[in-house]
Amino acid sequence: MKKLFIKTYGCQMNAYDSARMADLLAPLGYAGAETPEDADMVILNTCHIREKAAEKVYSELGRIRALKDDKSRAGGRMLVAVAGCTAQAEGEEILARAPVVDMVVGPQSYHRLPEMIARIARGAGERVEADFPALEKFDVLPQAVSDTGVSAFLTVQEGCDKFCTFCVVPYTRGPEHSRAPEQILAEARALAARGARELVLLGQNVNAYRGTDAHGKGWSFARLIAAIADIDEILRIRYTTSHPRDMDDDLIAAHGDIEKLMPFLHLPVQSGSDSVLAAMNRQHSADDYRRLITRIRAARPDIAFSSDFIVGFPGESDADFEATLQLVRDVRFAQCFSFKYSARPGTPATAAKKQIAENVKSARLDVLQKLLLSQQDDANRALIGTTQNILFEKTGRGPGQVVGRTPHLNPVHVEGPASLIGRVRPVMIEALTANSLKGRLV
Ligand code: SAH
Ligand code: SF4
Ligand code: F3S
Repeated sequence: MKKLFIKTYGCQMNAYDSARMADLLAPLGYAGAETPEDADMVILNTCHIREKAAEKVYSELGRIRALKDDKSRAGGRMLVAVAGCTAQAEGEEILARAPVVDMVVGPQSYHRLPEMIARIARGAGERVEADFPALEKFDVLPQAVSDTGVSAFLTVQEGCDKFCTFCVVPYTRGPEHSRAPEQILAEARALAARGARELVLLGQNVNAYRGTDAHGKGWSFARLIAAIADIDEILRIRYTTSHPRDMDDDLIAAHGDIEKLMPFLHLPVQSGSDSVLAAMNRQHSADDYRRLITRIRAARPDIAFSSDFIVGFPGESDADFEATLQLVRDVRFAQCFSFKYSARPGTPATAAKKQIAENVKSARLDVLQKLLLSQQDDANRALIGTTQNILFEKTGRGPGQVVGRTPHLNPVHVEGPASLIGRVRPVMIEALTANSLKGRLV
């Protein structure tokens, strides 16, 4: 057996891709390893979303280089691949900047890894694969073989046609594509058979899903969710990430109609200022977003929302930032991600004249995060004393502890047997600790 170490950065779609790369390389004799020491192959599955994320890769490559040298001094060989969004964005540049790298492979071409490994063994041929062969990879990848866990990711859609002016994703992941519903349902059943009880449907714009089946019939995202809900072993369905523009009536209705669809929605808004939203090319206003939240809450009153925010987008004034705080107060979120704007090469906002000073960005982020944290704390506290259905996912750190999640995605620790894993049980929530809830089986 050869040792394969994969390090994953970035979003859930990268986590899914890493698992698929492991599946793809297993038949070549590669087994997953926990550390890069002595590995026969190292893959860094990279993220390009913010500058810090992209730069991390080069410092990691420095460490890998020392390990690769050790290995070759001992007469062995370590192959080093850079995959993911930075691979797509920088291509050849990576080989030039980091000679330790043997191959570079973009997110839509990693199914070609076995071919690339063979080429490198021959010492000849192209070392960069970075085109967008329209979802070809899904026709070629093996059925998932890696351990799925109770909650499993399933990519149903890829790419982005929205071109928000700050974002690299349309360039790194290519245009929007939806997988065929039959292929998704087959994968969902295979995951269920391997023990998955919750499926998290993934896509850069997952609610833009528009599949076409073998009869040429179009499938909406709501229809896809309903079909997955028909798989008995699957108890819970979630999806991420959504764009407000693609929340159509059917999908909103599905939140009321499909019991297995969990009452939690990540719906990034980025800003509460109409002029910033326009400059970002989000193509909706702050009030459009408020109205959308109201409609979704009408379909599913107990739904919890999360979101992404960017502070310090070029031109953002104090009043614009205040509008973001107001939107947060109006909507009330259960949990959010917030970031300082990071100028990314090749995106339109990078060229904007009014870049915001770093100290202003930091101060705004601080204020926003305090507000978001207080809302998160309120949402958690409101659960104390209630009984929640928990889907248990794994054992906890303490002896005799199991950990699961509420329908609203809050992690809950409980004393109980490991046999609970994969099952849903009612739990009385008793206390809030640093970052999770404690409860007892009812
Ligand atoms: N497809 C998703 C988001 C993908 S990126 C969507 O449309 O919402 C995840 C988050 O990273 C974004 O929602 C945004 O908040 C943040 N992000 C993207 N580009 C960024 C940049 N240049 N600087 C700071 N944050 C950024
Ligand atoms: Fe990026 Fe916007 Fe596309 Fe989301 S919708 S991936 S933020 S361009
Ligand atoms: Fe990062 Fe690419 Fe995901 S840029 S956030 S890994 S789509």
